[in-house]
Amino acid sequence: MSFRSALDEASAVTQALLVEAIRAQAPTPLTEPMLHAVTGGKGFRGFLVQQSAGLYGIGRNSSVPVAAAAEAIHAYTLVHDDLPCMDNDDQRRGQPTVHVKWDEAMAVLTGDSLQALAFEILSGNDVGNAAVRLELIESLSLSAGARGVVRGQALDIAAETAEQPFTLEEITELQAAKTGALFEWSCSAGAILAEADPEQMRRYARPLGLAFQIADDIIDMEGDTALAGKRLRKDAAAGKATFVSILGLDGAKARAAQLVDEAVAALAQFGTEAESMRQAARFAVSRRM
Ligand code: IPE
Ligand code: IPE
Ligand code: MG
Ligand code: MG
Ligand code: MG
Repeated sequence: MSFRSALDEASAVTQALLVEAIRAQAPTPLTEPMLHAVTGGKGFRGFLVQQSAGLYGIGRNSSVPVAAAAEAIHAYTLVHDDLPCMDNDDQRRGQPTVHVKWDEAMAVLTGDSLQALAFEILSGNDVGNAAVRLELIESLSLSAGARGVVRGQALDIAAETAEQPFTLEEITELQAAKTGALFEWSCSAGAILAEADPEQMRRYARPLGLAFQIADDIIDMEGDTALAGKRLRKDAAAGKATFVSILGLDGAKARAAQLVDEAVAALAQFGTEAESMRQAARFAVSRRM
């Protein structure tokens, strides 16, 4: 199976669980916007959860709910990221953003609901024993919250109006938080499910998350809007601090390639069973969407 087919297949399974979980709640005004928000992404973080779980001998019954939790958090961050007070975007995944299709209040509430849904799913009986569930919930709350993704998003917004341009170190820290934290969690989740040490997976995830965000910033600069499904060429105008803004396009591409090599090197102790994760690292930077 090609990498792309494997990603699409894993993503469809994750997505089906999310749709089922949203539909299982009594219908509310949030049902349709939540379904809209979880539809149409690549499902890359959920794929990483399933693959890392596979490496540690964990089957899909346990890993797919965890993958769904990662994608629910990710979808919430995108809904809020697109709000007028954040990046002010009207398109996401080739569709109108939630605040455009509904309104701003519904977009805030949709994000809130998806964030809560992630923790609801993780607390379910099919996700490992009680200690495993608690560790997943605690680690996700740390990765998603004010020390992780939310902190990164705050730094990203602060960079737009900072008097001094961010240094490479500051940009690395910002991106490691806004994007890297959820990548780290997604990859470490497989080890946590198996009650194994997640450090090796973190060593893979850290460069991978950075490389993925650098690729996103490169796509913003030179990508194809139809393929990306979102408005491009906005970061520079908004004064975003990115690797492209400081290293230039070629420098950012070279840094991303180095980071992919680092991620692949972190898998050296694994054999062919980690091939999909090696391909995932290459996909993170070769992707056009
Ligand atoms: C976009 O993430 C936001 C970033 C952190 C770069 P993805 O490129 O994974 O978006 P979807 O889920 O496939 O739409
Ligand atoms: C988003 O980064 C990171 C999140 C945590 C949501 P961007 O703002 O660059 O993502 P896009 O380009 O809108 O997908
Ligand atoms: Mg943003
Ligand atoms: Mg954005
Ligand atoms: Mg971007």
